[in-house]
Amino acid sequence: MSQMSNGTAAAVEPMVRIEGLRKSFGDLAVLNDVNLDVMPGEVVTIIGASGSGKSTLLRCINLLETPDAGSVWFQGKDLTSDHVDVNRLREDIGMVFQGFNLFNNMDVLDNCTLAPVTLKKSDKREAERVALGHLESVGLADFAHASVQTLSGGQKQRVAIARALCMSPKIMLFDEPTSALDPEIVGEVLEVMRRLAGEGMTMVVVTHEMAFARTVSDRVVFMDKGVIAEQGDPERMFTAPEHPRTREFLSRYLEG
Ligand SMILES: Nc1ncnc2c1ncn2[C@@H]1O[C@H](COP(=O)(O)OP(=O)(O)OP(=O)(O)O)[C@@H](O)[C@H]1O
Ligand SMILES: [Mg+2]
Repeated sequence: MSQMSNGTAAAVEPMVRIEGLRKSFGDLAVLNDVNLDVMPGEVVTIIGASGSGKSTLLRCINLLETPDAGSVWFQGKDLTSDHVDVNRLREDIGMVFQGFNLFNNMDVLDNCTLAPVTLKKSDKREAERVALGHLESVGLADFAHASVQTLSGGQKQRVAIARALCMSPKIMLFDEPTSALDPEIVGEVLEVMRRLAGEGMTMVVVTHEMAFARTVSDRVVFMDKGVIAEQGDPERMFTAPEHPRTREFLSRYLEG
C-alpha cells in the first residue's frame, strides 16, 4: 500500500504475482509451491545454493520454463492461461543471462536495435537513437560500432543490459549476471545495475553477490530445495536470519 497525497492509502497491484508455483524436470521436483509478489519499483534478490531452483523460478516469469502448476501473473495477466502472447510478453520483460547471449557476428549497435526493429517495428534510425542513449548510460557509447567479439566480459554484459533496456521493459530479470566475469570486472556491471535500481526499475536478480543483495535490494529471498525458505528486509536477513538453512548459507557473511 502506498500513501497518496491526500493521505488515503491506494492499493498497488504487484507487477509479478507467483502463487503455488510448481515445476519438475522428470522426477526432480525443482519448485515446490513457490509464492512471491514483486511490487512495481521493487528490487528483489534471490539467493540460495546451487540447484535450489533460482534460475527455474526466474525463467517461469517470462515462460522460458512452463509451470506445471500454480499461477504467474504479470501486470494482472495470468501467464498460465492459454491466451498469452509469449512474444508480446517478453517485450515487456528484459532478461540478462550469465553468458550474455549476444550475437557475436553483429556490432554492438545492431545487437541493440535488432529486437526493437524486428519485434516492435521501430524505425531503424529511432531505434539507433534510443540504443545510443542506453549505451551511453552503461558507458559504452564509444563502442557502438565495435564487434561484440572484441569486448571484455564486463563490456559484453553492459551491452546485454543496454540491449534489454532498448525494449523499454517493465521489469528486468537478471540470472547471475556477474558469475562469468573476472572479479575485477564484476564491479562495473554491478554499478550499472545499482544505477538502474536507483532509477526505479523493477528488478529480480539471482546473484551470489551478497554485498549487492544487502545494499541494493529492497528484499532478499532465500531459496532452499525448491521453496522460499525465508525472505525479508536485507539488513534483517544479513544480521538476523531466522531459518537454520539461511543461517548456514549466509554464515560467511554474518557478523559475530
Ligand atoms: N531443463 C532442465 N532439465 C532437467 N533438469 C533441469 C533443467 N533445468 C534445471 N534442472 C535441474 O533443476 C535443478 C534446479 O536448477 P536451477 O537451474 O533452477 O537451480 P539454481 O538454483 O539456478 O542453481 P545454480 O546456482 O547452480 O544456477 C537442478 O538440479 C538442475 O539440474
Ligand atoms: Mg541458476
